[in-house]
Amino acid sequence: MLRTVVCVSGGGTNLQAILDAMDAGRITNTDMIAVISNNAGAKALERARKHGIPDVVLSPRDYPDRESFNRAFTDKMCEWDPDLIVLAGFLVRIPESMVEKFSGRIVNIHPSLIPSFCGVGYYGLKVHEEALRRGVKVTGATVHFVNEGMDEGPIIAQKAVAVEEDDTPEILQRRVMEQAEWVLLPQTIDDIANGRLTVKDGHVYRGGKV
Ligand code: GAR
Repeated sequence: MLRTVVCVSGGGTNLQAILDAMDAGRITNTDMIAVISNNAGAKALERARKHGIPDVVLSPRDYPDRESFNRAFTDKMCEWDPDLIVLAGFLVRIPESMVEKFSGRIVNIHPSLIPSFCGVGYYGLKVHEEALRRGVKVTGATVHFVNEGMDEGPIIAQKAVAVEEDDTPEILQRRVMEQAEWVLLPQTIDDIANGRLTVKDGHVYRGGKV
């Protein structure tokens, strides 16, 4: 069983997609042991509780400085020692100490086709606002392993989504979620849980053949 912790900050629709996929048997060999949120008001927490998944709230605001938050966050994660950490709309930067300890065991979903519209300052609706401002005709989502860079780790999966002429950021965000994010993230967890991914020289191969 792949012992998995999911990190969330807001609506939790990606968390919901994972829970639904587990219920439907589209994710196998996986046990969601906890959900962690930096935001006590996150709707994601309601979704976790409804499913009987233990949750923890850990906010940088409750600590005197970033360093002590990072330490508490890393300690909590080490206590759980999960096989996989899933960043499902988690808007807090992962401390370097955690990246080091869980190298190759953290995945993130980002709402664009990396390397477009990613890095510092690109999160949530802002990504779609920028895509519309730039006038791209195609956008999408990316799942990648997390390294010490911002949205820079090895790319696991991507899915393209069309931009329509009358899109608003909200409409585009919803389409990217429905067509790409909610498909890619559960699929990736199932791939990892069933040993279908291999990483070599910063590239991810599906099927375990390198
Ligand atoms: C999702 O679109 C996710 O890709 C994005 O935040 C949203 C969270 O929605 N993540 C990032 O922008 C990370 N850089 P959700 O809480 O409903 O899953």
